[in-house]
Amino acid sequence: MTSLARLQDKHAILTGAGGGIGLAVAAAYLNEGARCTVADISAAPSAELAALMARYPQTLIYVATDITKSSSVEQLIARASQTFGPVHVLFNNAAVFDMAPLLESDEAMYDRLFDVNVKGMFFTMQKVLAQMAGLGTRGAVINMASQAGRRGEALVSHYCATKAAVISYTQSAALAMAPAGIRVNAIAPGVVDTPMWGHVDALFARYEGLQAGEKKIAVGHAVPLGRMGHPDEIAGAAIFLASAESAYITAQTLNVDGGNVMS
Ligand SMILES: NC(=O)c1ccc[n+]([C@@H]2O[C@H](COP(=O)([O-])OP(=O)(O)OC[C@H]3O[C@@H](n4cnc5c(N)ncnc54)[C@H](O)[C@@H]3O)[C@@H](O)[C@H]2O)c1
Repeated sequence: MTSLARLQDKHAILTGAGGGIGLAVAAAYLNEGARCTVADISAAPSAELAALMARYPQTLIYVATDITKSSSVEQLIARASQTFGPVHVLFNNAAVFDMAPLLESDEAMYDRLFDVNVKGMFFTMQKVLAQMAGLGTRGAVINMASQAGRRGEALVSHYCATKAAVISYTQSAALAMAPAGIRVNAIAPGVVDTPMWGHVDALFARYEGLQAGEKKIAVGHAVPLGRMGHPDEIAGAAIFLASAESAYITAQTLNVDGGNVMS
């Protein structure tokens, strides 16, 4: 992978980056010269992340973090700052997926999805923004939204609502932090082939009476570019929104979805 050193001397925190899109973005940020603090919920790094840590022993650490717990997020930021100094970039990515027919979706599902995808996302962002504002760091936050946040879906109501909230909080935070020179944007992927999609496919199979793997093939064919995205294909947008190349862009949600959504 060619490096343009676009994130040289930057320190990024990436949540939910033990696998999937977050891990691909961590690898891309490291390649661009960033120091990275990766957070995920498991006590130890995943095998893929451990392999990346072996390649970047000086510039990558892992901090086990539950983003739904304020004390855990505070420990993450403290550990990150002690190791690599002030935070310049937050890739606010951790989330969970679940779905059910609207009349069957219960409070437990609602609580879990909103706890991680909205409360965890918001307070992680708020705590990092507080450090940036306090230290005068003209940083960048990238929140992970989704095409699901652009339009409701009969079977996916809670997840869609959480991702709509990510878009809204991105706009509010961007306006609140603009005077401090801190930019807040979001990325809205379409369908990306990650561990999350294994779970999504199994749920659609259950509720739509499909064979395993059938939904994944169908959603790929429905994309104007004709296929699902690869986690690496989110990384370009994530680097752009973290770097000086996007210095005049804030409050936006960038669709990275092969043409699924036009807005
Ligand atoms: N894969 C897709 O098609 C797709 C599409 C649109 C948006 N997204 C969004 O992109 C982001 C990454 O998705 P992905 O597909 O890589 O999913 P993934 O499931 O592979 O990764 C999500 C990560 O978040 C972590 N996580 C969950 N709860 C956590 C918690 N409480 N604290 C810390 N970490 C926690 C998980 O352990 C996991 O490693 C998510 O915000 C997702 O909603 C994904």
